[in-house]
Amino acid sequence: MNAPIASQLAQYQTRRAALMSQMRALSGGGIAIVRTAPEVPRNADSDYPYRYDSSFYYLTGFDEPDAVLVLDANAQHSTLFCRNKDEEREIWDGYRWGPEAAREAFGFNASAAIDDFSANLPSLLANQPAAYIQIGNAIVERDVASAVTTLRGQQRLGKMPPQQLRDVGAVLSEQRLIKDASELATMAQAGKISALAHVRAMQTCRIGQREYTLEAELLHAFRTSGSQFPAYGSIVATGANSCILHYRAGNSVLNDGDMVLIDAGCELNGYASDITRTFPANGRFSAEQKAVYELVLAAQDASVAQLAPGKTFDQYNDAATRVLAQGMIDFGWIQGSLDGVLESGSYRQFYMHRCGHWLGMDVHDCGDYRVPGTVGDNRPWRPLQAGMVLTVEPGCYVRPAANVPEAFWNIGVRIEDDAVIIPTGCELITRDVPVTVKQIEDLMRH
Ligand code: GLY
Ligand code: MN
Ligand code: MN
Repeated sequence: MNAPIASQLAQYQTRRAALMSQMRALSGGGIAIVRTAPEVPRNADSDYPYRYDSSFYYLTGFDEPDAVLVLDANAQHSTLFCRNKDEEREIWDGYRWGPEAAREAFGFNASAAIDDFSANLPSLLANQPAAYIQIGNAIVERDVASAVTTLRGQQRLGKMPPQQLRDVGAVLSEQRLIKDASELATMAQAGKISALAHVRAMQTCRIGQREYTLEAELLHAFRTSGSQFPAYGSIVATGANSCILHYRAGNSVLNDGDMVLIDAGCELNGYASDITRTFPANGRFSAEQKAVYELVLAAQDASVAQLAPGKTFDQYNDAATRVLAQGMIDFGWIQGSLDGVLESGSYRQFYMHRCGHWLGMDVHDCGDYRVPGTVGDNRPWRPLQAGMVLTVEPGCYVRPAANVPEAFWNIGVRIEDDAVIIPTGCELITRDVPVTVKQIEDLMRH
């Protein structure tokens, strides 16, 4: 890994300072402990490709496993615990920074070996008002419980364990929800790469290929553009598979007359993109495919029109649902008034998910969808703010059913773009791939 450049270093330091300032406001200070993700074995002695914890990386830019960041909010002091240099392991697995070089390159106040972390934890936590930890992370919870037990035994020496345990994720998710300029630039680039990957898949698609061939085209485009990974398992679903929401690219053959649904996005420098396009395998929409497609596109347009500061998270969802439900009534698939259908939920036979989610370092990114600090089952939906990023992804999935003419069966359509909320509305950062019927047919004409 390269050392961060000065502007990146300043960014990480600013983020750590913002977290510490929140901790002072919430609990008069305290210690934050943020551990990165562990390596995960795949089989025998092979691991899955390593991916750091998003929050840890957001605060550090450090991408080695076995590392913990400790922040002391009142002292405004940061410590990185990481792996020691190890000549033998570095021959097999690659370069390790080691605490000393990492401290200097990544701008921490102090550093130490990860092997010393547990032993150091009691003194780090002693007489602190609060510990901010990743609640639910079993390793961190075990380490903190053990340190608290140690401190309880040392109370006569004047060492008190922290009186509050708080979720560092709850504080960080508010911070991560509003993207700064460098994050938005990376996400725009990730959106462009993913859009071009979808273009490549549409252009190379041929009847008789299998789903995995298109998946390979996507991966080729991601990696040759410098993206590190797909941000999630790519969905390439042909024919009836297009109606299976979490289908993964498999080995089904692309048949003449199939719709192909691709939901795929790359991860670039820690940031996800998330695009879905649906197109006919043969490059020409049938009348029924076009009708369903244009309904979903109209739903997406209506939804995008609701993306602006001050509009709530629920408004863009409702806008899409209304258009889709009306379309299903107009097709004759479901009966009743629009309000009746929305009330009964009968539209869910064809549209069973919501219109989108926050997007950022995690595909389903962190951040409360309702107004933070409110309580109860009916907490108000959150108003949108400039700097939030979210997906807009209505769909319509027609499984074989008696209430639908057969010509519509097995047409599954989702159209998904990534939107940045800006002061005047929103900007779609994934539109370098065609989205209208005409644009798609033009691109696929070969
Ligand atoms: N690809 C995951 C999603 O669309 O939410
Ligand atoms: Mn999505
Ligand atoms: Mn998606």
